Amino acid sequence: MESPFKPDILKGKVALLTGGGSGIGFEISVQFGKHGAAVAIMGRRRNVLDSAVSALRSLGIQAIGLEGDVRKQEDAARVVEATVKHFGRLDILVNGAAGNFLVSSEDLSPNGFRTVLDIDSVGTFTMCHEALKYLKKGGPGKGTSSGGIILNISATLHYTASWYQIHVSAAKAAVDSITRSLALEWGTDYDIRVNGIAPGPIVDTAGMSKLAPGEVVNKSREMRPLFKLGEKWDIAMAALYLASDAGKYVNGTTVIVDGGLWLSQPRHLPKEEVKALSRVVEKRSRAAPAGLPTSKL
Ligand code: HXC
Repeated sequence: MESPFKPDILKGKVALLTGGGSGIGFEISVQFGKHGAAVAIMGRRRNVLDSAVSALRSLGIQAIGLEGDVRKQEDAARVVEATVKHFGRLDILVNGAAGNFLVSSEDLSPNGFRTVLDIDSVGTFTMCHEALKYLKKGGPGKGTSSGGIILNISATLHYTASWYQIHVSAAKAAVDSITRSLALEWGTDYDIRVNGIAPGPIVDTAGMSKLAPGEVVNKSREMRPLFKLGEKWDIAMAALYLASDAGKYVNGTTVIVDGGLWLSQPRHLPKEEVKALSRVVEKRSRAAPAGLPTSKL
């Protein structure tokens, strides 16, 4: 699908994306590149990075792939430095690296829980921490233009409670909290905007194939009236909005891009039944207001 944004909205910007070699992260890399940014993608697998970088370059996008694990502070520091060394600056950090698997809480070991928090939550903070000195551009009052942008990829799992996702729900709740705290502190001190995106189920991603194999998707359709799948493009468009000047007054929020799915509940009564019932109930309550003794009527 064609982007509704002008192709130069990120012209001259440099973006670093963790988990940028595949899935949603890769689509954000593509769209950032198509809108003028140079992109550095960070990931653990060299082969994934290599094929992502060649795909990006074949689209005319300036791209490099940097191997690293967000759980290791030395990797985070090295990748940030290498990005700045290669492209001369860093304007946008996208924290997309995440870990997940379906598991019931009683079968999850503390180390399994910790592993996902280490990747999603601590990894996000570590990357932000290492990138700060390049994102802050001197801060307000130092004669520089606005600071950089941070985008944290989150989820909606923790808005309620999600089956077999205690680890990811806890991790993403922490990510949202990090988003708000950094937006407050770094927004005030350095004019850095920090926002998040909470995707719904997105076709053709690791999240979907791991968490919602075919049978589960079909069941969900029956159980959730608003259930529909999103595309990676939908998330990338939200990222463009937040990373560009279109979002210049947006700070500390997590944009939900899920077609309304998280609001979705089973319909208990058909619409026609509600119409009929509602009139009857109104009439009844006018005739006998609640709390009034029937002898007074
Ligand atoms: C139970 C599991 C498990 C499983 C791993 N563990 N898989 N426990 N069920 N299916 C436990 C292990 O037993 C171990 O605990 C601990 O977790 C660490 O596992 P390792 O395999 O040693 O970890 P590692 O090799 O570092 O791999 C990390 C990983 C892996 C998260 C487990 O899946 C990974 O690398 N994932 C990255 C890619 C990914 O998941 N992408 C999907 C993102 S989707 P013990 O106690 O045995 O030592 C996404 C969507 C979120 O993020 C939002 C959804 C709506």
